[in-house]
Amino acid sequence: MDFKEVFQKEHVTRKFTNRKVPENAIAEIIKKAQQSPSLLNSQPWRAYVLVGDPLEKFKQASIENNDNDIKPDEDFASMLSLDWDVFPSRNMVTMGASQSFFFRNKLQLFSHANKTMFNAPAIIFLTVPKKSPAWSVFDLGIFAQSIMLLAINRGLGIMPAHSMVSYPDLVRKYAKIPEDEAVGMAIAIGYIDKNAEINDPKFIPARVPFDKIYKLTK
Ligand SMILES: Cc1cc2nc3c(=O)[nH]c(=O)nc-3n(C[C@H](O)[C@H](O)[C@H](O)COP(=O)(O)O)c2cc1C
Repeated sequence: MDFKEVFQKEHVTRKFTNRKVPENAIAEIIKKAQQSPSLLNSQPWRAYVLVGDPLEKFKQASIENNDNDIKPDEDFASMLSLDWDVFPSRNMVTMGASQSFFFRNKLQLFSHANKTMFNAPAIIFLTVPKKSPAWSVFDLGIFAQSIMLLAINRGLGIMPAHSMVSYPDLVRKYAKIPEDEAVGMAIAIGYIDKNAEINDPKFIPARVPFDKIYKLTK
């Protein structure tokens, strides 16, 4: 696929079809993403892929936690400050408002999609060692972006969601992740359900005006 097309297609998918993604395709994507740059070539990332029966069991266990109002306890939330600056906080409010505006009284579509993990046929969990500097989180983000662009290039949809790592102990248990790794993010991949209302291609959260993020000095 032309790079311009891949980049333009980079929007999230909140409902996948039941079609499975071949395991070797996922492995190939992750292998290619290893080419991503990282601080001093530290490559702090690891990728754990969950499919099939263990994935279904993990989803079920997460839904149970959710139904029992178990408080999310993300690894990154304890690693990084939650005392966010007003600039990104304000952008997040705008995102919430655009959801309400577009989907009106159907906001439950979002909570349902998150709770059911987007009907994903495969989830890639990304980790860094718990003993990591902030640089490693930066590196993990680059690695994640490479995975997503490579997946889109293969005709797949992508869904990066922190909601899938709300319960890191469950992720560790089902994806067999060692205790000394922080479960940073999860990317669901699969085929886009084009009939799903939640995937309406007209819903694209607006980006901040360019002059708010760009400044040239010469
Ligand atoms: C780190 C990260 C975490 C995210 N977590 C969630 C999530 O838990 N649930 C969700 O529905 N979307 C989640 N998203 C998707 C964003 O809401 C989405 O990328 C943003 O609103 C812009 O929409 P677009 O990517 O379709 O253009 C996440 C995205 C990123 C990069």
